[in-house]
Amino acid sequence: MTEPAIEALYTEDRSFPPPDEFAARALVNDRAMFDEADRDPEAFWARQARELITWFDDFDTVCEWEPPFAKWFLGGTLNVSYNCLDRHVEAGRGDKVAFHWEGEPGDTRTITYADLHAEVCRFANVLRDLGVAKGDRVNIYMPMIPELPVAMLACARIGAPHSVVFGGFSSDALADRINDAEAKVLVTADGGYRRGSAVPLKANADVALAATPSIDSVVVVRRTGDDVHMEAGRDHWYHELMERAAPDCEPEHLDSEHLLYLLYTSGTTAKPKGIMHTTGGYLTQVAFTHKYVFDLHPDDDVYWCAADIGWVTGHSYIVYGPLANGATSVMYEGTPDHPGRDRFWDIIERYGVTILYTAPTAIRTFMKWGTQEPEKHDLSSLRLLGSVGEPINPEAWIWYHTHIGGGRCPVVDTWWQTETGAIMISPLPGLTTLKPGSATHPLPGIAAEVVDEAGRRVEVGGGYLTLTRPWPSMLRGIYGDPERYRQTYWSRFEGRYFAGDGAKLDDDGYLWLLGRVDDVMNVSGHRVSTTEVESALVDHPKVAESAVVGAKDDTTGQAIIAFVTVKGDVEPDVALGEELRAHVAKKIGPISRPKTVIFTPDLPKTRSGKIMRRLLRDVAEGRDLGDTTTLADEAVVDEIRERAAAAPRDE
Ligand code: WT7
Repeated sequence: MTEPAIEALYTEDRSFPPPDEFAARALVNDRAMFDEADRDPEAFWARQARELITWFDDFDTVCEWEPPFAKWFLGGTLNVSYNCLDRHVEAGRGDKVAFHWEGEPGDTRTITYADLHAEVCRFANVLRDLGVAKGDRVNIYMPMIPELPVAMLACARIGAPHSVVFGGFSSDALADRINDAEAKVLVTADGGYRRGSAVPLKANADVALAATPSIDSVVVVRRTGDDVHMEAGRDHWYHELMERAAPDCEPEHLDSEHLLYLLYTSGTTAKPKGIMHTTGGYLTQVAFTHKYVFDLHPDDDVYWCAADIGWVTGHSYIVYGPLANGATSVMYEGTPDHPGRDRFWDIIERYGVTILYTAPTAIRTFMKWGTQEPEKHDLSSLRLLGSVGEPINPEAWIWYHTHIGGGRCPVVDTWWQTETGAIMISPLPGLTTLKPGSATHPLPGIAAEVVDEAGRRVEVGGGYLTLTRPWPSMLRGIYGDPERYRQTYWSRFEGRYFAGDGAKLDDDGYLWLLGRVDDVMNVSGHRVSTTEVESALVDHPKVAESAVVGAKDDTTGQAIIAFVTVKGDVEPDVALGEELRAHVAKKIGPISRPKTVIFTPDLPKTRSGKIMRRLLRDVAEGRDLGDTTTLADEAVVDEIRERAAAAPRDE
């Protein structure tokens, strides 16, 4: 027997079959789709592509696979904006609400499919008037306002790939991304609202624009009304260009493999990678997953994905998936704690949201804030909850299920990546018996396997999560760097896609994500995942959130250092630290007992909410901090460093 790549220590016995009422109405409540996909995955995807998408010309080849390069639905032509807008309007659904939009200050806009269609056509003409042709890249740096999806769809309409840069990124990050894509036009806004103040987007963009020679024109949406510099000949107001633009715009007929967008992954160290997504395969898989994972009933549901469009979650599950499926969505500009910590629950009550999709980091923050916040509101409209972005600790899952879902809503834990484009591993809520903390199984048409160091398949236990077949929405590469694409994703295991996640399979064949393999700790020769120790800590009733890291240790190789945030009303002390160490030992075994517990009011996170364990490792080992450019709040680390210096240690 070889040593396992990662040990499987945590056991979770609770399980939740789909409620009868939910299953009875669900789009999927039997295994037919899995059987069909198992028999012939390509035929399965071809059927989805033809059912969910309207093609101008049908495709003749389903998939061309020249590893590691895949092409889907060759010979087919389509237009993403046509699929998201025109076909709904043509079918008489123009009056249907596409977005209930709400600004952070409380201003609202109701946007129907007809409204969105008209605005997109006009803005597509604006872009053309600025000289943007099919294939030219357009950069978008905007707050969460309706003009953001308008700009994306207008690009898609004329075949100009967009590159959206999250509005929280700095001028440097923006300049790097504009330059890598050699974008011709930048679409931005004067500013946007976040936690009660205006973020000066145009001022940030001006700094970037000093170093971006490819940009000819800048379009600025007026959002905050703050004074901004407008460079004559280069900068234009959105509303002025829109007034002058023609209203009608025929959608381009684009090849299935036409580049739809670039999205740069928030790499914590190296140069960001421009992940390429194309047209037909991407749209097929986002529409498919949005429909079946969220069990979408477009006439009844009010769907809310509370991510930012600047991340892939927003691209796929605020813009392209929901609009392709003709859904009614909520779109919210700001943060969950403005003006109060019940903003999300207030929004759900007012719009009657039925499906909520958010991230574990948000759920753990809500746990920290306490149940009195959701209890102020009627959340009975909710029928389904989703989670994405990180492993969800079983206790956070239970909290979400109980306090937000009222015990009646299935929770779909959806595993995927910027690179996969769409959900890959997830329950289907009318069919799958849920286990809190498990993403359960690959979706129909998706093939995932856990392997050991040598790339041999693991049937039960921990290892590396790999994908063994191309999928329609897979990345087509890294922009301008095919060699880096091959190296990064396809070189570790022969013939397999591997992008850095550990996972385990339990006795029932359920998949449990174990975090990034770079974070796995080695304690006296045992390979312990950060996720399992964190889940054991969050299992304690006083803990809201935790991050653990392995720090160099003379005796054990690495020692586990735990950073812990407690729930709102708890006062942490030395005795609680001892209690937590014992709790972990009891829950998953003495080898995983943290050497030190450091209490901290917050954890360092990237702007998309992922815990930066690398920084915590630096703190734990007393090093100077490495690169902190992707850190959301710098002050958090200083505070943690002081607390780490003062924490009692178990020698
Ligand atoms: C990484 C991808 C997918 C859109 C948002 C993040 C982690 C994502 C889960 C999940 C455990 C998850 C993985 C993955 N991750 N979803 N349900 N369970 N881990 O996109 O920024 O490209 O990050 O997020 O580590 O590789 P991303």
